[in-house]
Amino acid sequence: MKPRKIKDNIYWMGSVDWDRRLFDALIPLPDGTSYNAYLIKGSEKTALLDSVDPPMAHELLSQLEGVSQLDYVISHHAEQDHSGTIPLVLEKFPDAKLVSSPKAKGMLMDLLQVPEESFKTVEDGETLSLGDKTLKFIYTPWVHWPETMVTYLEEDKILFSCDFFGSHIATTDLYVTDEGRVYEAAKRYFAEIMMPFRSVIQKDLEKLASYEIEMIAPSHGQIYPQASFIIDAYRDWVLGPLRNRVVLPYVSMHESTRQMVDRFVSALVEKGVGVEQFNLVDTDIGKLAMALIDAATIVIGTPTILAGPHPYAAYAAFLANALRPKVKFLSIIGSYGWGGKTVEVLAGMIPNLKVEIIDPVLCKGVPSEDDFKALDTLAAAIAEKHKEHNIT
Ligand code: FEO
Repeated sequence: MKPRKIKDNIYWMGSVDWDRRLFDALIPLPDGTSYNAYLIKGSEKTALLDSVDPPMAHELLSQLEGVSQLDYVISHHAEQDHSGTIPLVLEKFPDAKLVSSPKAKGMLMDLLQVPEESFKTVEDGETLSLGDKTLKFIYTPWVHWPETMVTYLEEDKILFSCDFFGSHIATTDLYVTDEGRVYEAAKRYFAEIMMPFRSVIQKDLEKLASYEIEMIAPSHGQIYPQASFIIDAYRDWVLGPLRNRVVLPYVSMHESTRQMVDRFVSALVEKGVGVEQFNLVDTDIGKLAMALIDAATIVIGTPTILAGPHPYAAYAAFLANALRPKVKFLSIIGSYGWGGKTVEVLAGMIPNLKVEIIDPVLCKGVPSEDDFKALDTLAAAIAEKHKEHNIT
């Protein structure tokens, strides 16, 4: 694709990756993604903001064919989907300076072997003049690595935010046209990579509140012509209240745990508690992560195998522990054959979750009527906890 004009002397460059289905060998990309770079031509200097994932380097290099002079390459974030083509850009424009935070400099040297003399480091709040356009660099750590910063183009009131506010969508629509679709994709993106850093992101949002931002141009997905749409969504995901919901990832081997799940869900619904149920045998972990953003309770359903939880249930627990959602309560349900340490093992896997553990319900073999009643009691206990904490 050729460069696309956003405003006078400001262009989208980069690549739309329609076919990519997995990020970091982990995160599902049902709608592909894009790697957005931006070219800003000032009256005196020209800057390229970020680059593209190395397999797409040819597209960016082709777009840069029409650029006669490049003075700066701004690297907001050292992860290779944005930085990976920078060495080739610097090869093409050997006089260009690579502008980054000092922390990113070290990471870019480690990851891409960029020589030290190529760098110009900038401090938080520092500006760089391109003549009639001024770039202001704002440190925004943990969106999504510790070195990340964003660029505010003062004259045009555009925030170039890299991963921050991004979404994995492949499309030819440069700007957000379907807010519902983008909300879903951006929420998925937040859940998968930003959620663990909520408290820092809250500070990043507070920092940006003092800027008049008319447009946000992230490095994945579409440009937001209404910045408030995505900023308000982030505020809700970071600071919003918990919902009266149970997230229920489960796996069943011989239908006993499955029967328990069915009864438990029914009991929760009767008590007025919503449920999001995920069969871990075939689950989109992005959807599971999204459900964790504001659910009050997580209950893991697992049979006992090899004296512990099923590995899929352990995976869900590991993931929840890594994502550090706001969840307040946790329990475990499932069936075992003759013994084991399922509860102890799972409980030991979630040190990051500041949760109250509500008494698990484990049954021996196929669930009996007493086991079903115990599940009703657990559902009632969860509903009561939610009420006590005004979680509606
Ligand atoms: Fe899009 Fe953290 O890289």
